[in-house]
Amino acid sequence: MNLKDEFIKYFVSKGHVQIPSAPLIPENDPSVLFNTAGMQPLIPYLMGKEHPLGKRLCDYQKCVRLTDLDSIGDKTHHTFFEMLGNWSLGDYFKEESIAYSFEFLTKVLKLPVNKLAVTVFKGDGDIPKDVVSESVWKSLGIPSERIAYLGVEDNFWIAGDTGPCGGDTEIFYFRSDDEVPKVFDPKDERWVEIWNNVFMEFNKDSEGKITELPQKNVDTGMGLERVVAVLEGKTDNYETSIWKEIIEVIEKISGKAYKGNEESMRIIADHVRTAVFISADYAGIKPSNTDQGYILRRLIRRAIRHAKKLDIDTNSDFLEQIALEVIKKYENYYDEIKNNKDIVLEVLRNENIKFNRTLSKGLKEFEKLVKHIDGNMIDKDNAFKLYDTYGFPIELTEELAREKGLMVDTLGFKEKFKAHQELSRTASAGKFKGGLASTGEKETKYHTATHLLNAALKRVVGRDVHQKGSNITEERMRFDFSCDHKLTDQEKRKVEDLVNEWILDDLEVNVETLPKKEAIESGAEAMFIDKYGDIVTVYTIGDVSREVCGGPHVKTTGELGHFKIIKEEASSAGVRRIKAILE
Ligand code: SER
Repeated sequence: MNLKDEFIKYFVSKGHVQIPSAPLIPENDPSVLFNTAGMQPLIPYLMGKEHPLGKRLCDYQKCVRLTDLDSIGDKTHHTFFEMLGNWSLGDYFKEESIAYSFEFLTKVLKLPVNKLAVTVFKGDGDIPKDVVSESVWKSLGIPSERIAYLGVEDNFWIAGDTGPCGGDTEIFYFRSDDEVPKVFDPKDERWVEIWNNVFMEFNKDSEGKITELPQKNVDTGMGLERVVAVLEGKTDNYETSIWKEIIEVIEKISGKAYKGNEESMRIIADHVRTAVFISADYAGIKPSNTDQGYILRRLIRRAIRHAKKLDIDTNSDFLEQIALEVIKKYENYYDEIKNNKDIVLEVLRNENIKFNRTLSKGLKEFEKLVKHIDGNMIDKDNAFKLYDTYGFPIELTEELAREKGLMVDTLGFKEKFKAHQELSRTASAGKFKGGLASTGEKETKYHTATHLLNAALKRVVGRDVHQKGSNITEERMRFDFSCDHKLTDQEKRKVEDLVNEWILDDLEVNVETLPKKEAIESGAEAMFIDKYGDIVTVYTIGDVSREVCGGPHVKTTGELGHFKIIKEEASSAGVRRIKAILE
């Protein structure tokens, strides 16, 4: 049984629409480096914006959580993981949500009820105890001894500090061959959380004030890796079918067995898988010293260091061999993995070459340092030297130090590092300016206006005009398109007039969800088709435009106001750029 497919099938049968996994590198949210939860891309819709595909959604979402990086190496943690989720956007609430989860777990996955337990929010301040969830669980056959009431730390969910949030009920499974204890103890590690149903009815603002959202939502998240382990009766996630072949490749390359070398093998497997997904993302992340690039670099370098621990010849294509196994597993689910295979392999190859030049020398330097150390602290100058001369991310130095029972003056290192980093930080500040920067009302209007502009250019300048890029802020839109000449004043005016005519016509903006192939066959403009998953959304504006696009868009073009081109200039060879505003 394939859990991802079963999950989607079940929720589609309950009236949900499958939405594609959002990219791992968030497109619209510069406040986080990676998508950390399935709900992240849905925040505007949880806050009340109407989702074009309806009120019931489901998906499998790529996630990366950095909070667990230090725990990688144990049986259950992963940096990259997939989260299965279903949502109600102001549609059903606690009762159906719990009933669906229960039916899926016990009827579809056939997990025994006797091995399930749940936690329920006990309330806090003005927010009362969740007696509804309790009674639903009881009615489904979960006895009182298997229901624990917990407070905000455990049963109130929010992504970060602000945004949509609410109490939750978490489902646990007894993952052990021991006899199931009668009474559920959430602290007993044999009980593992497998599913979290969050009842998002509040919003927390930056002052910490909690107010009710315009609608009551459900946001659920089920960790794929954990549930597969449960289904396959494993207590070590890395022994499941998800990791089996990847670990086997590492065993083969190292000539060592998994047993006895678990920690390093798990770290290598986890970090290579994560590095594959980060470097395959269409954001085009490369190893660097800032932001996502730095995480990518850290992961690859840590994997290389652990490969060395296993006596793998790191001066080989071992990373690529492992990556190929990862790619094989995921390419049918995520097309960036298929399309960017060569890029991924190149990233790994190049970073390995870079780090290999200095790794052995750096490790020797580290040993020397340890021998002559005064006290138990690696000082900031040495930490910086390991970074600057030998390419050791500070976290790698910390890990090496930990293994020797030493500490690192990380704070001192960071100060020293700051001056060094200032430059690259300035450079990366502009990084999130690509594409749709946020999804406010104004940006949404500009987003729709790009479709109209695209259509108008095709009519006025020629059918072979294609979009090459766009960038939207609250103040203006920028649109790059293929064109071999400077637009004449007449062309510009015609384009403006046409867009404004369509705005006055108050054309309807409609959305459909289609398999990618059908979308293309239906004639939808699909310039960035590789960016999307197998199922895409197609926006049609009256009979003037039809484009594959992630949205969001206004409902009718009448909302846009007056369109005006403020600049037309060259962008690069064969590409022109228009800046325009809506007044
Ligand atoms: N947002 C919740 C979580 O990540 C449920 O999806 O656990």
